[in-house]
Amino acid sequence: MNVLEQQLNHLVDECRPYTAQGKVADYIPELAHVKNDLLGVAICLPDGTYIHAGDVHHKFTIQSVSKALTLCYVLMEFGEDYVFSKVGMEPTGDAFNSIAKLEETVPSKPLNPMINAGALAVTSMILGETAELKIYQFRQFLATLLNRSVEEVTYDEKVARSEYETTDLNRALLYFMRHHGIVEGDVDEIIDVYTKQCAIEIDCFDLARIGRVFAGNGEDPDTGEELIPRRVVRIVKAIMTTCGMYDASGEFAVRVGLPGKSGVSGAILAVGNHELDLNNVGFGIFGPALDSKGNSIAGMKLLELLIERYTSR
Ligand code: DON
Repeated sequence: MNVLEQQLNHLVDECRPYTAQGKVADYIPELAHVKNDLLGVAICLPDGTYIHAGDVHHKFTIQSVSKALTLCYVLMEFGEDYVFSKVGMEPTGDAFNSIAKLEETVPSKPLNPMINAGALAVTSMILGETAELKIYQFRQFLATLLNRSVEEVTYDEKVARSEYETTDLNRALLYFMRHHGIVEGDVDEIIDVYTKQCAIEIDCFDLARIGRVFAGNGEDPDTGEELIPRRVVRIVKAIMTTCGMYDASGEFAVRVGLPGKSGVSGAILAVGNHELDLNNVGFGIFGPALDSKGNSIAGMKLLELLIERYTSR
């Protein structure tokens, strides 16, 4: 274990007590079974190797981190003009599942692709004759980012079903937007794709690698091949910075200052930059105990301390 890894282990020990102040999400019943005090972090270094500490070998579902990646996918497929004709690029200051602003905006275009309404509009753009074919396209995109086969990118069927059966609020958002012509198609099918996209199983290493791809302007850290065009990376990083943590995005920008995206499973993806002593690295964090805004409570603390300690003044 090198010095950096030792320091990372201490940081996890220091931050784990914060999990006691948070709570695992239970509004998706199948998520409620996870232990509250888990905490893990992986960092993917510029050369594609990893350092890690804590509970990094746990698998978890990607949840809202998927929103940054479906955004990437549709930007690459359809271009920014089309995507931003359906979804905005402004922060809301509201909770991730809020419906309020949809009624205040004319047309009822969701304000950004990170809140549920915007993410559902993005998911509705994915082409394919069936929900299974649509989710396959997205799994294939993830497989490219993770450098593995599409068969190895799987979703947790129980979590997907559990959300599909209970997600009245997301259905309501979709019916509202369909009424106003923002989305088209069958609401249940879009929910099917969305709940499967959110249930994709990953771990801290996967998140860190995706963060590293973003930090390297879309290049594969192993081969240098372009996986995402630079312009798309720039757009998605900007939206993660302003909207990635919902109504905690401002605080996250002040305390951490990096593009980041959270998920209610306790996942956090963050994208390093050259200002860090660690350089252009990717961060993958898992800490399922959440704060009142749906972000990993200990994970946020861990990132804050990491940045504080690894940024030269
Ligand atoms: O739509 C939902 O409510 C979940 N599948 C995802 C929400 C989420 O991860 C919010 N993040 N912190």
